[in-house]
Amino acid sequence: YKYKMTNDNNKNILVTGGAGYIGSHTVVEMIQAGYTPIVIDNLSNSSVESLRRVQLITGHEVEFHEIDLMDEQALTNLFQTRTINMVVHFAGLKSVSESVSKPLKYYDNNITGTLILLKVMERFNVKNIVFSSSANVYGAAQKVPITEDLPHGATNPYGKTKMFIEAILQDTCASDPEWNCILLRYFNPVGAHPSGLIGEDPRDIPNNLVPYITQTAIGRRKVLSVFGGDYETEDGTGVRDYIHVVDLAKGHIAALGHLYTKPGCDAFNLGTGRGYSVLEMVEAIRRASGREVPYQIVDRRPGDVGVSYADPSKALEVLGWKANYNQLDMCEHAWKWQSQNPNGYDITAVER
Ligand code: NAD
Ligand code: WQD
Repeated sequence: YKYKMTNDNNKNILVTGGAGYIGSHTVVEMIQAGYTPIVIDNLSNSSVESLRRVQLITGHEVEFHEIDLMDEQALTNLFQTRTINMVVHFAGLKSVSESVSKPLKYYDNNITGTLILLKVMERFNVKNIVFSSSANVYGAAQKVPITEDLPHGATNPYGKTKMFIEAILQDTCASDPEWNCILLRYFNPVGAHPSGLIGEDPRDIPNNLVPYITQTAIGRRKVLSVFGGDYETEDGTGVRDYIHVVDLAKGHIAALGHLYTKPGCDAFNLGTGRGYSVLEMVEAIRRASGREVPYQIVDRRPGDVGVSYADPSKALEVLGWKANYNQLDMCEHAWKWQSQNPNGYDITAVER
């Protein structure tokens, strides 16, 4: 990467939601890049076991505080007792379907949680943040590949929380040149750390394609429903820009480096620039796992678009970042995680 750490005072990074899927992978990369992550999480969708595994991978202790972002006092106490240089903000609820049935839960947790975080940061003069946004903000984009300047049009409460938080961050930066915000719009994060020690551990039936396929391959689910076989794509199934979670994690290291240049507010797509169809992902996981993945084609899922993939060239030009893992790596690592941890982080099942 283009930017390197210069001195030790700049090392402490507060990571909200750092016990989660993308957060835990990013904590590994942070430690390996010489940063000191301080993780907070309310464990509403994760387990501290992920951070114990991070310690196994990196050989470093990870500082963890069980804090809910809605708890302004707890957050204030943390900023009082620890020197924090920058913040990487993953904490949030992320199910599109749940956000449609429980919009207030999503607006409250994601937006109020972020507002509390920003107010406490401002009070302690910590004014650098990397934010987990989503390709969901583009809604049904006018064209592919999707560039950062396309208009926003999220069609569900989850995506709207990302749109609104982006606007809040933009306004905050505009109000005070000391604030710097990097908005990272993730496409479809998949896969796991190559060690197979950390990965995605959905609490309920997976909403997302890849965990659903790997759980089907291992026999936890009977059959994959393929949502729509009549899209205008080569095989009729939906096309997405799947990105290896370790590549995504490295994008945060590049973003942290960029924050040192005081860039104000800027947004970046994190994707590979290449799309794969649902059936291409099924076939790749069948190959990686050697297991059959029974599937049936059903109706389209309401709200889905046919084709979505990134133009990731801005991240390469400005951050010096691009994705390196290919589709087979994503599927092999997803399978390694799934097969080594058939019940996710539920270590009562198998003690390793
Ligand atoms: P995740 O659920 O595994 O991680 C989010 C973490 O935030 C969890 O550990 C959860 O316990 C924690 N959290 C939620 N609300 C909190 C609160 N009020 N206080 C403290 N902790 C809280 O999800 P992930 O896939 O790792 O996603 C991380 C971020 O990236 C989220 O903001 C998500 O919206 C965004 N994102 C994810 C995807 C994806 O497909 N996984 C795509 C685009 C954007
Ligand atoms: C991928 C493809 C489905 C499940 C969502 C959010 C997005 C981001 C990533 C957070 C689509 C098809 C899926 C299944 C299927 N998350 N599919 N059967 O919808 O592209 O993006 O997660 O920010 O914002 O919207 O991801 O993994 O759900 O679906 O056929 O059981 O797989 O139709 O074509 P999606 P996904």
